[in-house]
Amino acid sequence: MLGIETSCDETAAAVVRRDAQGRGEILSNVVRAQLDLHAAYGGVVPEIAARAHVDLLDPAIKHALGEAGLDVAELDGIAAAAGPGLIGGLIVGVTTGKAMALGLDRPFLAINHLEAHALSAGLTDALRFPYLLLLVSGGHTQLLIVKEVGAYERLGTTLDDALGEAFDKAAKLLGLGYPGGPEVEARAAHGQASIKLPRPMMGRPEPHFSFAGLKTALRQEATARAPLSDQEIADLCASFQEAVADVVRDRTARAMDIYQERLGADAPRALVVAGGVAANQRLRAALEEVAVTRGFRLVVPPPALCTDNAAMIAWAGAERLARGLVDDMAAPSRARWPLDPDAPPALGAGVKA
Ligand code: KG4
Ligand code: ZN
Repeated sequence: MLGIETSCDETAAAVVRRDAQGRGEILSNVVRAQLDLHAAYGGVVPEIAARAHVDLLDPAIKHALGEAGLDVAELDGIAAAAGPGLIGGLIVGVTTGKAMALGLDRPFLAINHLEAHALSAGLTDALRFPYLLLLVSGGHTQLLIVKEVGAYERLGTTLDDALGEAFDKAAKLLGLGYPGGPEVEARAAHGQASIKLPRPMMGRPEPHFSFAGLKTALRQEATARAPLSDQEIADLCASFQEAVADVVRDRTARAMDIYQERLGADAPRALVVAGGVAANQRLRAALEEVAVTRGFRLVVPPPALCTDNAAMIAWAGAERLARGLVDDMAAPSRARWPLDPDAPPALGAGVKA
């Protein structure tokens, strides 16, 4: 299965194989980051991203096929991320995927990018459904029950910023570079979590998140100390990271309780973490703690599969094809595409699907 990913600022193509037992193997995984094109703007510029995908995608696909040692005619299907994401980029990937599928007379699979994150652990860990998923990236923060391919129950989401976005904004207001997560983590290693910051949503019965207030509190603490010394920046980073770890630990524990209430005590207990923020070691330690206390196995896919990539798109395509879930040429690109359309709306404004 060829996978194509163009939903944000990574142009990616990959080939994976799925055997009859449902085991996966990555034959190639090519990612062309566009960081340098967007760095000057402090974030992703959608039109620049879409145009870069046009330039970068064909060579990336060629490279992925070459590394896999395959001719296009040997593909069983073409899968492209069709949403959610930046619409210009999605159209580039979906149109390319459809054209290849049509030309090669192979099935086309329009993949939900979030579903690809949700299923990616199955590519490296022989993981049985159901499991609990914590997806924490620059664009998404969700807790979901993954029941089967195509069957997801959203337990929690963010009312405002995504967690990666919160790290990026924290870094920006402290004068650190983009993407902010790795910078904040590196600075925090030299600091003390000595500055009092709020823990939004902690203790609430529904496992939702909110990070806007935490960011505002951080800004106030930073402004009060300006100009900031390196030590103060480190302390602010450590305090921010500690607040995030407390919130994520609490919200995930709540989701674990709901998971067990819904599925019964006999349901397999595994917590899968996906998205770029899963790279954060402090967060991992907090999740390890909560997993141990509730008897869950913690599964964190390798970093290359946690951040945006096309192997996860190809894998979701292979999983869908194995179940006969193929799409036709009318499949749309969708800027918004919730995994669980029946989820009750979370309270608050600006909810990200
Ligand atoms: O999944 P991802 O690679 O891509 C998108 O969301 O598109 O996630 C990127 C996000 C960024 O917000 C980045 O700051 C965050 O993941 N991130 C981290 C760390 N590494 C990446 N956040 C906290 N700690 C990290 N070590
Ligand atoms: Zn993603």
